Amino acid sequence: MIILDGKKTSNDIKNEITEIVQEMKANGEKVPHLAAVIVGNDGASLTYVGSKVRACERVGFESTMVRLPNTTSETELLKEIKQLNDNPEIDGFIVQLPLPKQIDTQKVLMAVDPDKDVDGFHPTNFGRMALDMSTFIPATPFGILELLDRYGVETQGKHTVVIGRSHIVGRPMSILMGRKGFPGNSTVTLTHSHTKNITQITSQADIIITALGVPGFLKAEMVKDDVVIIDVGITRVPDESRERGYYITGDVDFEHVSKKASYITPVPGGVGPMTIAMLLKNTLLARERHRAAAK
Ligand code: GUN
Repeated sequence: MIILDGKKTSNDIKNEITEIVQEMKANGEKVPHLAAVIVGNDGASLTYVGSKVRACERVGFESTMVRLPNTTSETELLKEIKQLNDNPEIDGFIVQLPLPKQIDTQKVLMAVDPDKDVDGFHPTNFGRMALDMSTFIPATPFGILELLDRYGVETQGKHTVVIGRSHIVGRPMSILMGRKGFPGNSTVTLTHSHTKNITQITSQADIIITALGVPGFLKAEMVKDDVVIIDVGITRVPDESRERGYYITGDVDFEHVSKKASYITPVPGGVGPMTIAMLLKNTLLARERHRAAAK
């Protein structure tokens, strides 16, 4: 069993990006600039955005955090997005999800300039992804592809089962694993809350990508020997005995499933750290595209 080590791989990627940024600086070029908009005070969202900003500092990017109160109206948020779209200093930006109830998320995501949409959530970019055109692939799916690629995990002709059809992970992952090329060329089954007899499906899978948010959902008796497991679940379980007051766990019963798996991502330290590295990669790509367009 081989651990797909997202912590190490994301560090490798950050080091590669740091080198490219140092070269940009040495050549007197503008360095990539990422902005993150966060509305409200959700603890997990603040932690994620904080990590994204720190990661920018580490690789030498410029970063801007835009913090708005929980009471922000949709109009106010759309105005903020327009400013970021129009600001030539900003290469890419993200609007951290979830947004407060008074704001229509789809409307907000559609207001982001697709050329600055480093989350890859705009319908234009999502459509481009489905059509094999150059785009920004959403960071979590992009991170999973990168792990499969760097560890040389065979995907061609394999049966990939995706659990969960979220717009951020499950849906894009089901498209990407079926695309032509590597990683891809898989036969994909997308399962969700209405799927019947899920064990019958998972027990035939060569690769399982689970993004449910239900701790310990995937058990050893649901998988076959030598399965590849990608665990995208990140759940905070309250635990008084820990200093933080919680621990992080995934969708997979790691202790037992890992004994049957050929490759497996741990939680924490698997897909999670990759997401931030790939957001940086998308921001670098945005900068390179903007520079090419300015010539
Ligand atoms: N909330 C959970 N994951 C993400 C993500 O990848 N991007 C944004 N913007 N919000 C999120």
